[in-house]
Amino acid sequence: MPTSLVTGGAGFIGSHVAQEVLDLGHKVIVLDDLSGGFTSNTPKSAKFIHGSILDHDLLSELFKEHQFDYVYHLGAYAAEGLSHFIKRYNYQNNVIGSINLINESVKHNIKCFVFTSSIAVYGSQIPPMSEDMIPQPEDPYGIAKYSIEQELKVTKEQFGLNYVIFRPHNVYGERQNIGDKYRNVIGIFMNQIMRNQPLTIFGNGKQTRAFSYIKDVAPYIARSTKNIDTWNQIFNIGSDENYTLNHLAKEVGRAMNSKFTIKYLKERNEVLHAHSSHEKFKKFFSPSKETSLYEGLNRMAKWALKSGPMKSSEFSNIEIEKGLPEGW
Ligand SMILES: NC(=O)c1ccc[n+]([C@@H]2O[C@H](COP(=O)([O-])OP(=O)(O)OC[C@H]3O[C@@H](n4cnc5c(N)ncnc54)[C@H](O)[C@@H]3O)[C@@H](O)[C@H]2O)c1
Repeated sequence: MPTSLVTGGAGFIGSHVAQEVLDLGHKVIVLDDLSGGFTSNTPKSAKFIHGSILDHDLLSELFKEHQFDYVYHLGAYAAEGLSHFIKRYNYQNNVIGSINLINESVKHNIKCFVFTSSIAVYGSQIPPMSEDMIPQPEDPYGIAKYSIEQELKVTKEQFGLNYVIFRPHNVYGERQNIGDKYRNVIGIFMNQIMRNQPLTIFGNGKQTRAFSYIKDVAPYIARSTKNIDTWNQIFNIGSDENYTLNHLAKEVGRAMNSKFTIKYLKERNEVLHAHSSHEKFKKFFSPSKETSLYEGLNRMAKWALKSGPMKSSEFSNIEIEKGLPEGW
C-alpha cells in the first residue's frame, strides 16, 4: 500500500484530495497547522498531524517515520489579494514551507511531488491562459507559487524529484472556509447572505472568473501520481465557463433561495479577467463532463445552509496597512 503525505488536508481542497487519495488505496498522513483549516474536514481514515511545514524538524521526523511514496502539497496561505499586505507571511509559508518539503522529498526519494500552484502565476495576460505562456505574476502570492514551480523544475534536473504542477482557479464547494473574508468570493457571498449582509464586490462587478467545482478538481489532483505521463508537467485545471461577478451574485442568491443587495466597494488592485484553457488537462486526464455552475452552487448552498454562517475572522498580523482595501 503506497503512503502519501497530504499537506493542508484539513483545508478545503486538501481534505477532498486526501479522501480521493484514500479511495485510491493509499495510507494517508495529513499535516496541517489549522491556520485556515479544521480537523473536522480531515477524512477519518487519514492520520492527522497538527503541525507546520515551517517546522523542518517535524518534517524530518515524519519523512523518516512514514517513508512516503508521494507528497501532495496543498498547505498554503492562499489569500491572493491580501498577499500584498502580508508579504513576509506569504513568502515564509508559501515559499520556505514548500522548500522544507522539497528538501525532505529529495532526501527520502519521494516518487512524485504534487503541487497546487495557481492561475495567479499568469498575471493579467490575455485569457484564456495556457501553459505555454510565460508566467508574469502580479502579486506576492503568484510570485511565491511561480518560484516553487521553478524550484521543482530545477530540483528535478539536479536530483531527479518528479513533480506534477496544477494551476487551479476559483475552486468552490462543500467544506470551503466561508468565514474567510479575504478570499473565495462564493463562500463570502453565501456567508453574507446568511448573515443578512449585502454582497460586497470590489469595483463594478464586471470582472470575470471561471468557477471550478471541487469534484471537477480534487479527483484529478489525487490521480495524477498514477499516470507517469503526467509527471514533470504543468496543468491548468478547472472550469471553462467564465462569468462576471455580477452574474455570480445573482446565481448565488438563487442557489441560496434568498433576496440580496450588492454593495460596490472601491476597486482593488486585481487581475480583471482570469480564465484558462484546459486542453492539455483534457488530453492527459480525460475528465468527466464538468459540473455546471448552477449544479455546483446548488450543492454548496445546501451544505452551507445546513452548516450555517461563520464568523469572519480578522487576519491578526497585517504587515503593511497602507492601501488596505475597504472592509478588510
Ligand atoms: N481555492 C482555490 O480556488 C485555489 C486556487 C488555486 C490554488 N489553490 C491552492 O490550493 C491549495 C489549497 O487551497 P484551499 O482553497 O483548500 O485553502 P484552505 O485554506 O482551505 O487550505 C489550506 C490549508 O493549509 C493549511 N496551512 C496553511 N499554512 C500551513 C502551514 N504552514 N503548515 C501546515 N498547514 C498549513 C491551512 O490550515 C489550511 O487547512 C493552496 O495551496 C492554494 O494556494 C487554491
